[in-house]
Amino acid sequence: MNIPFYARYHAKLEQEALLACLEGSLATDGLYSRKALSQLSSVYPGKSCWLSLTASCSLALETALTLCRLAPGDEVLLPSFNFPSAANAVLNAGGIPVLCDIDPDTQNISLKDAAGKITSRTRAVIPVHYAGISCAMDRLLTLAKEAHMTVIEDAAQAIGALYQDAPLGTLGDFGCVSFHYTKNISCGEGGLLLCKDRKDFENARCYRVHGTNRDAFLNGECDRYTWVCPGSSTAVSELCAAFLSSQLSCLRKITAIRNQRLMDYLDFLKPIEQEGYGKLMKVPGYASPNGHIFYLRFASESLRDHIQKLLAGKGIDAKTHYVPLHLSPMGKKLGYRPKDLPESLACYDTLLRLPIHTSLTMEQAWQVSEMIIKGCRFYG
Ligand SMILES: Cc1ncc(COP(=O)(O)O)c(C=O)c1O
Repeated sequence: MNIPFYARYHAKLEQEALLACLEGSLATDGLYSRKALSQLSSVYPGKSCWLSLTASCSLALETALTLCRLAPGDEVLLPSFNFPSAANAVLNAGGIPVLCDIDPDTQNISLKDAAGKITSRTRAVIPVHYAGISCAMDRLLTLAKEAHMTVIEDAAQAIGALYQDAPLGTLGDFGCVSFHYTKNISCGEGGLLLCKDRKDFENARCYRVHGTNRDAFLNGECDRYTWVCPGSSTAVSELCAAFLSSQLSCLRKITAIRNQRLMDYLDFLKPIEQEGYGKLMKVPGYASPNGHIFYLRFASESLRDHIQKLLAGKGIDAKTHYVPLHLSPMGKKLGYRPKDLPESLACYDTLLRLPIHTSLTMEQAWQVSEMIIKGCRFYG
């Protein structure tokens, strides 16, 4: 048996789109970038949501943090069980990342822990929608409003997923999405920044093209373009946009297949919870998932490691996930100790992700589940 952990979806029009793109000039924000943006505006509908393509989600996060204009020493809350991008963006913008613990059901930021860490220096919060499962956004937005915090949703894993009826990334002041090769919709490397406020969007558009007013120039609003603000070069390339556009045309199909496998695992693996071997990922009633990740948390680290090895021996690639930021060398430099955030530590020790992608069949999900259940029973 050989079941890989990742397998990207090969959209029909990919090659055609890339070849057609090569015929053109490859100019930034060309035909394919505009096409991808128009497709994305159907995924993220609504008047108060301004979209801009970036070369990665990390760059979208960096842009959002730059627009927050932090003063040195300003604090930003984010979960420790996380990729380093948001913490890097805070540091690069001159702020201090304040690492919070997570909720054991969703592995998303613990609002209780976050609330207890708000100080007079707290300026923003960056919730991650882990596995494409929404944070409890009403409660989070209320907390942010009370504490005057900007909300930057790290929706890297969340394309196609909702909080109630709202696409993830559209609820905060900013949303950041990833099209990295490991994501549901991929163009190798790519990202999206969503801005609630038009002024933020205009500033973001200048930031992404070297801090210039190139957009205004291309719209015929001025006869030369020039340096107007601090900036960088964060736009997605036209070739990646062409690829992205063909992938986006399959978003519904990809999400439906992945969600079906998620439901299959939840069904097949019920004995794991019933017999006390661990807990399956939870999908709260307010969340519509996108099947980006399927994970379970075992009752102990040794059982998790045993099952991972057992699956590997049968050619099934299951993976652990993030080293919590507070356990990392950078976390240590920031003054954290392992037991400061106990749920993140427990998650690090016990979480295992199973293969989930559009090539995974229901039968394979069943075989993987059966192997895990038998492995747990045998382990005792
Ligand atoms: C939660 C989270 N945020 C940000 C990123 C970074 O995304 P990108 O590779 O598009 O910069 C990732 C990558 O996997 C992620 O998991």
